[in-house]
Amino acid sequence: MEKNSKRRLEKTSARNVVRIAAGKKSVVLGVTGSIAAYKSAELTSLLVKQGHEVFVVMTQDATEFISPLTLQTLSKNPVTTSFYDEKENWRPGHIDLADRANLLLIAPGTAHIIAELAHGLAGHPLAAIALATRAPILIAPAMNGKMWQHPATEENVEKLKARGIEFIGPEEGMLACGYEGLGRLWKVDDIAFRAEFLLTRHDKLIA
Ligand SMILES: Cc1cc2nc3c(=O)[nH]c(=O)nc-3n(C[C@H](O)[C@H](O)[C@H](O)COP(=O)(O)O)c2cc1C
Repeated sequence: MEKNSKRRLEKTSARNVVRIAAGKKSVVLGVTGSIAAYKSAELTSLLVKQGHEVFVVMTQDATEFISPLTLQTLSKNPVTTSFYDEKENWRPGHIDLADRANLLLIAPGTAHIIAELAHGLAGHPLAAIALATRAPILIAPAMNGKMWQHPATEENVEKLKARGIEFIGPEEGMLACGYEGLGRLWKVDDIAFRAEFLLTRHDKLIA
């Protein structure tokens, strides 16, 4: 490993632990089962280019839309898809990610994950991380317009907003389901820009 490398691997009795250099932020990027999941590849690249350590956590449904291998390669970190991915560490991987996150960004966020979070469910790593982390949470929803405007979804979104979770989008346009309406994932550049803002603001709050 290069001497001046920003990332330093430190050997512990349990395993290699990645130490994040000062100033470098950890973004946990949650990807869920939307047709817009392919856009998480570009989002991952943008966040990495912005100088962040990106840890992707996918729901099982998300893996039907984009391969974990793609996101692993772009993020240069292992991708979590199950509670049982982490076998080496004594500490559950999802708690480790929840603690090290400076931001939990869920993009795209389905109606399903929004409902799970609103109800405090923890049936898979992404939902559990959302409960365990104290980092800011930003959700970029993507779904059919009728799903987004259903009272159940609206109620869930309001609940989450009241808990301090921020939403970006969705935007209006042609949807993959064939309808036109409010439900498209917000532009990934703007999502990455908002993520940057929240990471910086979080810094100032704890300084
Ligand atoms: C082709 C296809 C596209 C889908 N797109 C969306 C979507 O954009 N938004 C959404 O909320 N659900 C969408 N769904 C339904 C979700 O995949 C489904 O609700 C799933 O249970 C979500 O699980 P997850 O939130 O754990 O990833 C889609 C399903 C299919 C088969």
